[in-house]
Amino acid sequence: MAARDLQRVIPSVATSDGAGVKLRRSLGSSQFARLDPFLMLDEFYSDNPDDYIAGFPDHPHRGFETVTYMLEGNMLHRDHLGNTGNLAPGSVQWMTAGRGVIHSEMPQQKEGRMRGFQLWINLPAREKMKPAAYRDIPASQVPQVAIDGGEVRVIGGTLTVPGSDQAVSGPVNGPDERLSTDPVYWDLRLKPGASVSLPLPDGHQAMVYLYEGQARIGEKVLPTRSAGVLGDQGDLVLTADREGARLLVLAGKPIGEPVVQYGPFVMNSREEIEQAIADYRSGRLTEAA
Ligand code: CO
Repeated sequence: MAARDLQRVIPSVATSDGAGVKLRRSLGSSQFARLDPFLMLDEFYSDNPDDYIAGFPDHPHRGFETVTYMLEGNMLHRDHLGNTGNLAPGSVQWMTAGRGVIHSEMPQQKEGRMRGFQLWINLPAREKMKPAAYRDIPASQVPQVAIDGGEVRVIGGTLTVPGSDQAVSGPVNGPDERLSTDPVYWDLRLKPGASVSLPLPDGHQAMVYLYEGQARIGEKVLPTRSAGVLGDQGDLVLTADREGARLLVLAGKPIGEPVVQYGPFVMNSREEIEQAIADYRSGRLTEAA
């Protein structure tokens, strides 16, 4: 199988969100920096409580999914449905905003390191107004798979283990429950100098986010803390340099619809955005249709 080439690099830029949480945004840093079906990828990483302590107080979403993946630190999720979730190291929170959700994510620590990611995955028009849903996935439910040269945590989609017939599915988008964007979400750790070749579904748009170390795709060096957009056919082929590398691997089936975003609302048209704002102001964002 041919290797996917590195077609574009989207560097992360420093920004802040919520009540002033400092983070680095690659995907979503502008309307041109998206990769259908992915809208936004934020990395938060700080040892300084001033950077995260204010958290993400109550705020709305409509029209897409948010996926939070924690590496270090603790936050607490609460939403209008009454869900609570402990964002602990290695855990994943997969939230489908659908028609509307109002939630908060607040730090449960006053010091120490906070590190993780939030990814926004778009929904097709026919699913944008579906009921909100929330899944709190503890670290113990995320398979950790040893591969030659490293290991993979399989959060979403199915990993075919290189050199074997073994297939390992994550807790989300496994064989029993295919999401319409069919997302792949892996956390890959490579040892120094290791190379891997991992199949991804043909036609899926794919990217990697290198969050630690150094890696190359073909002859091209992937800058640290950047999203590397790949071709849409073939295997992901990566080589870690001397320090090793840690990366998120994201792939999904493109939706191919217009994207109109206004802050936390992502719809297909301006009229739908205006409706979302009006619904939020009048307290109807989260009401059943
Ligand atoms: Co949110």
